[in-house]
Amino acid sequence: MCGIVAYIGNRNCKNILIDGLKRLEYRGYDSAGIAIMVPQDPKRDALGNVTIEVLKEAGKIKELAGQAKESRIDGKCGIGHTRWATHGEPTKINAHPHQDCSGKIAVIHNGIIENFDELRSELKEKGHKFISDTDTEVLPHMLEEYYDGDLLLAMQRLMGRIKGSGAIVAMSVDSPGEIIGARITSPLIVGISRDGNFLASDMPAVLEHTRNFIVINDYETVRLTANKVEIFDNNGKPIERESFRASWSITSAEKSGYEDFMLKEIFEQPYGVKESMRGRLSNGELHFDELGLNSKQIKDIKKVQIIACGTSYHAALIGKQVIERWAKIPVEVDLSSEYRYRDPLVDEGYLFVAITQSGETIDTLAAIREAKSKGAKVMAITNVVGSTVARESDSVIYTHAGPEIGVCATKTFTSQIIIMYLMGLYFGKIRGTLKDADYKKIIDELHVIPNKIQNILNRADELKEVARRTFKHTCFLFLGRVFGLPAALEGALKLKEISYIHAEGYPAGEMKHGPIALTDAKTVVVGIIPDDSVYDKMLSNIQEVKARKASIFSIISEGDKNSGKYSDYLFEIPRTIEELYGILTIIPLQLYSYYIAKNLGKDVDQPRNLAKSVTVE
Ligand code: AGP
Ligand code: GLU
Repeated sequence: MCGIVAYIGNRNCKNILIDGLKRLEYRGYDSAGIAIMVPQDPKRDALGNVTIEVLKEAGKIKELAGQAKESRIDGKCGIGHTRWATHGEPTKINAHPHQDCSGKIAVIHNGIIENFDELRSELKEKGHKFISDTDTEVLPHMLEEYYDGDLLLAMQRLMGRIKGSGAIVAMSVDSPGEIIGARITSPLIVGISRDGNFLASDMPAVLEHTRNFIVINDYETVRLTANKVEIFDNNGKPIERESFRASWSITSAEKSGYEDFMLKEIFEQPYGVKESMRGRLSNGELHFDELGLNSKQIKDIKKVQIIACGTSYHAALIGKQVIERWAKIPVEVDLSSEYRYRDPLVDEGYLFVAITQSGETIDTLAAIREAKSKGAKVMAITNVVGSTVARESDSVIYTHAGPEIGVCATKTFTSQIIIMYLMGLYFGKIRGTLKDADYKKIIDELHVIPNKIQNILNRADELKEVARRTFKHTCFLFLGRVFGLPAALEGALKLKEISYIHAEGYPAGEMKHGPIALTDAKTVVVGIIPDDSVYDKMLSNIQEVKARKASIFSIISEGDKNSGKYSDYLFEIPRTIEELYGILTIIPLQLYSYYIAKNLGKDVDQPRNLAKSVTVE
């Protein structure tokens, strides 16, 4: 969680840090702070006699931005942090940067120091004074202990002592021309520009200034000066690493006139899914060499094991159905946080797939490591180039949805589903389990899916109206079967995340085994009832809840005259083949949840207690 940004160069950095933090706010937003190296006499020596000035605030970045605007401090070297508290409440004192006893060193940190208690006692015995409740505060005090004229060496010694995870960035008045970074698990990238160099948790923080990046790997340290970047391995030996150029642009990380990032990202889905298909599906043919598997290897797959969390897990559930249906390969889907602890079986013939939009989810990363330790080869599906999961996997399929800033996954979800479709289709074709006519029909439908998504988006006002009429209800049940089930689970997750209303996604056929007891006049049941093989079954399930006085909102196929009889509200989606209803049915549910949350006055981009990259367990 949390966002880190740091700059050293020939420009004043206060605004660079504040703007960078605003762009990282999706990663954590309970408090924030910056520290700037301020020259005593700017005219004489910009980096000679300096002090470190710190500004911090509890709450969102705008609180800190207000304070920063009033303040006259500025300088050419600084660090900034937006926090997602793990140790200690989100107060001003606990906000980063943290400092040592002398105030000469300032540190920001993303992650958890698991052995902080032991380190803290040790440091206290040596006379160090602590003022916060955070685990992070041990870091500046350790650097104070280890500093012997070289901050990089002090950081490398510190790395040998800490357990847990962290992207750590530090600066010291005694080494005024440099910023030192270190990484254990949590992401850290270097941005390089003519005017100076940056460290950040994620590219959007500094895209405004540069598109040239270098990724820092685990257990590496980095020294940044105004015109030089030096990377060192675990043993302190220098490493050469080429930079790469990001294709993301700054406008893709801005709201572009939309009220919220979430709304913008929902509306970007026709483009996002096209991007996910680009180069992979053209002129009725599928090209998927990136999978890194030859025909024999695909024919030999005994089982596909998919792991993921949250929304990505719902994409995996669609993947399971299409791979089993089209390619006749058994698929097991696990939540990453469960997989890693259940002593899973790994066999040579298994294909292991990890789905994660951020590429940083620690549970998924840990599950990958668990699988790899048992001999698995891992294929990652992610949206973030250079992310940890991308680098630790044996092959990577990028979803190419563009940066997703809203905490709620929307466009990355539909892009993941597209990759699942392409994978199922490709495996089915190579294994000869899919008839040519079916293969062609699915491809034809995939070609027109962006237009069908657009058709739904064009009628967003209809969903706004249903939300206006239902947002006061306190219990929502999303029901679906087969391809409608992942959409039901995802619809409920969206609503919970951004509106804080109790919602459950459920297999419609399971209602009578318990949850139907919840149903009364205060309940809204959202039924996913496209024209598919379980249409009649769904209709019966909807009648069962209607009989118990729930309000029914049905998502139906265009022209379905029947479902209206049992529904209080209806939304029609374009017709498609059964499997592709998996992607179409989620679009209205994203918009519906969005409008309910807006009616309730909630902050949809930064819902309480959540963060975009879940880098703590
Ligand atoms: C989605 O809206 C959620 N914020 C969350 O469930 C998310 O899908 C989950 O944390 C997994 O993230 P990942 O795809 O980056 O691994
Ligand atoms: N563990 C640290 C804290 O609670 C850092 C949390 C974060 O990554 O934001 O302050």
